[in-house]
Amino acid sequence: MKNFISVNQLTVKDIYSILEKAEYYRNHEIKLTKQLFAANLFFEPSTRTKMSFAVAQKKLGLEILDFHSDSSSVLKGESLYDTAKTFESIGSDVLIVRHQSDSWFDELDGRISIPIINAGAGKEEHPTQCMLDLLTIYQEYGCIEGLKVVIVGDIKHSRVARSNAFALRKLGANVFLSAAPGFEDEELDFPYISIDEAVETCDVVMLLRIQHERHLHKAETSDYLKLYGLTKERERKMKEKAIIMHPAPINRGVEIDTDLVECRRSRIFKQMENGVYVRMAIMMNVLNEWRINYNENTFKKRKAIAISR
Ligand code: CP
Repeated sequence: MKNFISVNQLTVKDIYSILEKAEYYRNHEIKLTKQLFAANLFFEPSTRTKMSFAVAQKKLGLEILDFHSDSSSVLKGESLYDTAKTFESIGSDVLIVRHQSDSWFDELDGRISIPIINAGAGKEEHPTQCMLDLLTIYQEYGCIEGLKVVIVGDIKHSRVARSNAFALRKLGANVFLSAAPGFEDEELDFPYISIDEAVETCDVVMLLRIQHERHLHKAETSDYLKLYGLTKERERKMKEKAIIMHPAPINRGVEIDTDLVECRRSRIFKQMENGVYVRMAIMMNVLNEWRINYNENTFKKRKAIAISR
């Protein structure tokens, strides 16, 4: 793929190839053999995505052109396109973009001559988060087809929910949604179940935070955990091997009891670790596709490797 924008552009084969490559990079050092630059254009706050891209870039030997929208010429009215074009002109070889617009890529599509990776588009898509979530589930179960996965929380405002629901369904998982009244998304054609049914029946319970920044009015959360969240009582009803996931940041005590964040079922920090290797794989894929990096033959020579925990 030329640009990594949406999970909907990926075939099942593409997805497993990225997961396999991510595992390869976890176990093998890889360095680019020429000087390449990556620009991380984050127009929305980020800790995990931005920093795991930075670690992934450093591991690959990419030089980072850091960008802070609040001290950039965006404040003088510069558009996303002109910002991206500027980084292309000064020598960036790949752009990583997070933006509050659901459709920011439309402004750049076909107009920029270096690869672009979506690091979060409004409430529409977060495809690199999805890949690290899929890797985490695959590591756990050795398959995705047939698993019951529930995505719980503020579905309406979540880009993670959309990317994961579509990709998991493509891979054959049975995907359910669970949301408080008002947090459902009518555009998503997946069955809704209660949190109580979800914990008793699902193999993966994927929690989401309330996206206050996308609400017109701040949601009341005093009863949220008890009514719709993962309490300790509900965790005790989960299937023996079921796991808890969350893209983070976490609102401790709102969507999840704080004691469960690091419990034996939690894979929340494993997800973050996986993010580094998945992002290495995605960056290498687009650089190879554009023939910006000619020297990545090592992985291709190797056969599929076991995906380890
Ligand atoms: N999961 C995620 O996207 O976290 P950040 O907003 O901190 O990047």
